[in-house]
Amino acid sequence: MTRLLILGTGTDQVEGILEAQRFGLYTIGLDWNEASDGAKLVDEFYKVNIKDIKEVAQFLDGYPHLVHGVIAFGVDIPDVLAFAAEKLNCYFQLNFERAKISKDKYKAKKLLRESDVRVPPFAPVHSPDDISSFIRYYGYPVVLKPVDNSGSRGVLLIEKNTDINWAFEYSKRFVRNKSTNPSLMVEKFICGRQLSTESIIVDGKLFTVGLSDRNYELLNKTKPFIVENGGDLPPEPLPTFKNYQELISAIDEELSKALRAFGSGNGTIKGDIVVDEHGQVWIIEVAFRLSGGLFSTIEIPKNTGVNFVKKAIEIQLQGTCNTKDLSYRIKNFVRLRYIFIEVEKGIVKRIKLPQMENVIFKIYCKEGEPLSFLKTFELPKNKLLGYVIWENTKQKVLDIEKQLLETLEVEVSTQ
Ligand SMILES: Nc1ncnc2c1ncn2[C@@H]1O[C@H](COP(=O)(O)OP(=O)(O)OP(=O)(O)O)[C@@H](O)[C@H]1O
Ligand SMILES: [Mg+2]
Repeated sequence: MTRLLILGTGTDQVEGILEAQRFGLYTIGLDWNEASDGAKLVDEFYKVNIKDIKEVAQFLDGYPHLVHGVIAFGVDIPDVLAFAAEKLNCYFQLNFERAKISKDKYKAKKLLRESDVRVPPFAPVHSPDDISSFIRYYGYPVVLKPVDNSGSRGVLLIEKNTDINWAFEYSKRFVRNKSTNPSLMVEKFICGRQLSTESIIVDGKLFTVGLSDRNYELLNKTKPFIVENGGDLPPEPLPTFKNYQELISAIDEELSKALRAFGSGNGTIKGDIVVDEHGQVWIIEVAFRLSGGLFSTIEIPKNTGVNFVKKAIEIQLQGTCNTKDLSYRIKNFVRLRYIFIEVEKGIVKRIKLPQMENVIFKIYCKEGEPLSFLKTFELPKNKLLGYVIWENTKQKVLDIEKQLLETLEVEVSTQ
């Protein structure tokens, strides 16, 4: 029996758990929430706070069986993974020290800059004055962000009319560990095409099979809050590149430098990337983990035919994987969008999903649940559900989306 330890059993982890089981593995799941969707799916479940290294250590000390691999799907805990892997004598791509740096946006960017990776100019922020002096030097717009959060929490786009004192106080609220120094940072906002990438690393070589446009059409309405509304695969062609292969090569050049900076072994790397009008690739952030949401689990396999999660699991167990079928090729056009409900407070009364082929839904707020439960921004916006559509032409994808939006029924009470 091959045992895989899975850190996190929430909604975002369900697909990964199922994939591990399809692979014939015996799954052990840890999460603080016994009622989480994946807790019922794993072969063994234990209530453990996976963000707390001490709790995880205590669990591992008491676990009597041999564990062959450890993985997390879409949770930003590379340090816990590195720690657990070391303790279990299993494989992980980063050592503990580098894993800790990769989680801190400021320290990680410093390391990337020292390694000649093209990153935006940035500076630590201890006071609103630090933001103002950065702007005096680099000009508007800039981005203010907590160094130790994720999911765009506390990330603000600062333009001429933004109140800098307010921005400072707001962003500070999303700092997780208040003793981190610096706890906030500011960056030059890089204008251009926003892309998400996800790659497999084998023997220092990158296989970038996840390549998506990020959809920021809501930004004009939501700024200063940066709210992404899904994405499209493949991205719209970029005028500065002849084809996707050329674009991927340019991206891989920067990502390779990032790999070397972190001393990463085989595994995965996820990139937040901007390509500017001159075709220059800027690394906003890299993470040595599988993406959350539906990117690695649904969008990449539908787009390219590559079972990304399976490859990642293989690496966790064997330290490597077969790279023969890891070339970037377009099988389908894929579109992810979210549906937000714009009310301050409300309860989801009813969701009736249309039965459609080539569509997968993901519900973030179930019937009977209060919408404010999911509120992560200072906005009357709540992520209700997401849908992924795939077809062999973009037009067919758009036709399905139109039909989906016409037939989807959602009832929310605002009492
Ligand atoms: N300097 C920048 N220039 C251009 N866009 C940026 C910059 N900083 C952040 N962004 C945009 O805002 C998003 C969120 O910022 P960042 O990745 O730093 O925070 P996060 O908490 O990791 O959020 P997410 O999970 O959405 O990536 C980025 O993915 C990118 O699209
Ligand atoms: Mg990010």
